[in-house]
Amino acid sequence: MSGMAKDRKKIRWTEHYERTMEILTERGLLLVVGGDRPNPMTIGWGAVGSIWGKPLWIVLVRPSRYTYGLIEKTGDFTVNVPGRGLERACAVCGSASGRDVDKFAECGLTAGKSAGVVSAFIEQCPIHYECKAVHANDILPNRLAPEIAGAFYGSGDYHRVYFGEILGAYADAGRLGEL
Ligand SMILES: Cc1cc2nc3c(=O)[nH]c(=O)nc-3n(C[C@H](O)[C@H](O)[C@H](O)COP(=O)(O)O)c2cc1C
Repeated sequence: MSGMAKDRKKIRWTEHYERTMEILTERGLLLVVGGDRPNPMTIGWGAVGSIWGKPLWIVLVRPSRYTYGLIEKTGDFTVNVPGRGLERACAVCGSASGRDVDKFAECGLTAGKSAGVVSAFIEQCPIHYECKAVHANDILPNRLAPEIAGAFYGSGDYHRVYFGEILGAYADAGRLGEL
């Protein structure tokens, strides 16, 4: 794993909020969990906000994902914002499982060593957020609007919702044009 590149600098966690949210809904973001054998997974849902006086990323992971076991063990994650050119990586990381495939190798991605968490970040992504899980809870079927239950949970597999304190947000100035 390589160290953090020189021109990757700490930024305010709100600095690229708007573009990050657009990309979340356009091509998805890449959630990475694990340090020794990090695993990227595409996410299309998530929220950034402020709770308990902390900046937070809230992400949702279904128990069937390989990522779920990793995040339960590691207790931290990074959220990586992919630029143009990483569409194939988003497709692969959103369909193949880390149980079967080394997705970093398969997608030609490089794992960078994070500053404040065990989980790696993706060097090719212009922005990444380092997050420590401070709370988790599960979607409650009996508190869910029936139309959402019907549309998204036909086979159960209710998401676990992770609240990750943003310990740091980082941007690679040389890559921001790729967003
Ligand atoms: C655009 C897109 C968004 C996705 N968003 C999520 C998500 O928010 N939560 C989730 O659990 N799975 C989501 N998935 C599915 C996982 O990325 C997919 O099942 C992946 O293969 C799981 O990888 P893993 O087994 O290595 O953890 C999404 C897939 C795509 C293509």
